Amino acid sequence: MTILVTGMAGFIGSNFVYYYLRRHPERRLIGLDNLTYAGNLDNLSRLTEEEKKRFAFIKGDICDTELVDRIFSENEIDGVINFAAESHVDRSIHDPQIFLKTNILGTQVLLNAAKKHWQLPDGKWRSLNSREGEETRRDHSPRRTNNEQRTTPKFLQISTDEVYGALGPTGFFTEKTPLDPHSPYSASKASADLIVKAYHDTFGLPVNITRCSNNYGPYQFPEKLIPLMINNALNHKPLPVYGDGKQIRDWLYVKDHCRAIDMVFDDGQSGEVYNIGGHNERENIYIVKRVIEILREKTGDGEINESLIKHVTDRLGHDRRYGIDPTKITQELGWKPTIMFDQGIEMTIDWYLNNREWVEGVISGEYLEFYNKNYKI
Ligand code: NAD
Ligand code: TYD
Repeated sequence: MTILVTGMAGFIGSNFVYYYLRRHPERRLIGLDNLTYAGNLDNLSRLTEEEKKRFAFIKGDICDTELVDRIFSENEIDGVINFAAESHVDRSIHDPQIFLKTNILGTQVLLNAAKKHWQLPDGKWRSLNSREGEETRRDHSPRRTNNEQRTTPKFLQISTDEVYGALGPTGFFTEKTPLDPHSPYSASKASADLIVKAYHDTFGLPVNITRCSNNYGPYQFPEKLIPLMINNALNHKPLPVYGDGKQIRDWLYVKDHCRAIDMVFDDGQSGEVYNIGGHNERENIYIVKRVIEILREKTGDGEINESLIKHVTDRLGHDRRYGIDPTKITQELGWKPTIMFDQGIEMTIDWYLNNREWVEGVISGEYLEFYNKNYKI
């Protein structure tokens, strides 16, 4: 089986490539990524020689219709997992247009190629390439009642809980919560979700959409909350907390997200949305204080303390609270998180302590310019 994985040089995509090639030793991945400031091919330098043989990389834009068409013509693609996106809310507030282009138009280009290459003249969908050696495939879905194997290719859209907008102090996002995005980022992701749904409802394209809560873990670009705080604290720089810091995010360790994606790709019912989250809601200020505490313990550096915290002007349109109800994926596919926050945050901080060169490498160039212009305190 050969799967096209877009945006695989970014945070979640690169974690997914490691996870997937190990989990499915009989499958191949083709990566497509145009290596924006957030994409870094070095993220995949730790693949083994054997894994590298099952992974091919193409540098290119998901909006490039000709290129995407050629990839489908030259390879028998059995599925698409679309991670490629502009993903940072603050950037979407400063410069929305690229978010609409990549996140919406790019998704439509991929959907169109999938439809063109997977649909047979009679309107049905072609069969999956090969099934041999796929014995590991189902053992991760113990609760699935429908034992039929998927026989067609599938398009999996990696979306976000942010499409649901913000919650008050109580309640959770379910798959039935109406879409109500607020930022240009979340609006572009919600639009993409609707285009994916349209290709399913209109043409019958086999699709799933996953909507996960905030991820954390290795290889996350240090513009997002947790790696930014780790890096600034290590450099004794101010820790910018937006507003009162009491906004709540529901944090999931990236590997648990990758497991969920794997399960939905194989076993999700076509046309369905699956929310992914582990009921781990934390106020931003709690996260920042916990990062300080762990870093101080691990480094013995007394200058890493709460005096570094600086409350800054709040983000425009800042969503107050996110919280996922994961009942559907738990009941249908047997997914639940395996890495609790106390363990995951230690693993993440250890990774950043051991990979300071990686951080230095990715925060050069464009990122630094943008950061200095917009966020320098
Ligand atoms: P990221 O910004 O770290 O990585 C995005 C990747 O997409 C980069 O490698 C970038 O080079 C690539 N890319 C951007 N534009 C492209 C284009 N036009 N053509 C090809 N490649 C392009 O993002 P991430 O945090 O890894 O998020 C991946 C996906 O997961 C996104 O779709 C995001 O919306 C979704 N998501 C993220 C989170 C989170 O907490 N990070 C949570 C839920 C969902
Ligand atoms: P972020 O990591 O950008 O993810 P998202 O906006 O997609 O949830 O931000 C997580 C939370 O942390 C969000 O409420 C904004 C807040 N935040 C800060 O307070 N300071 C910062 O420097 C950053 C980057 C985020």
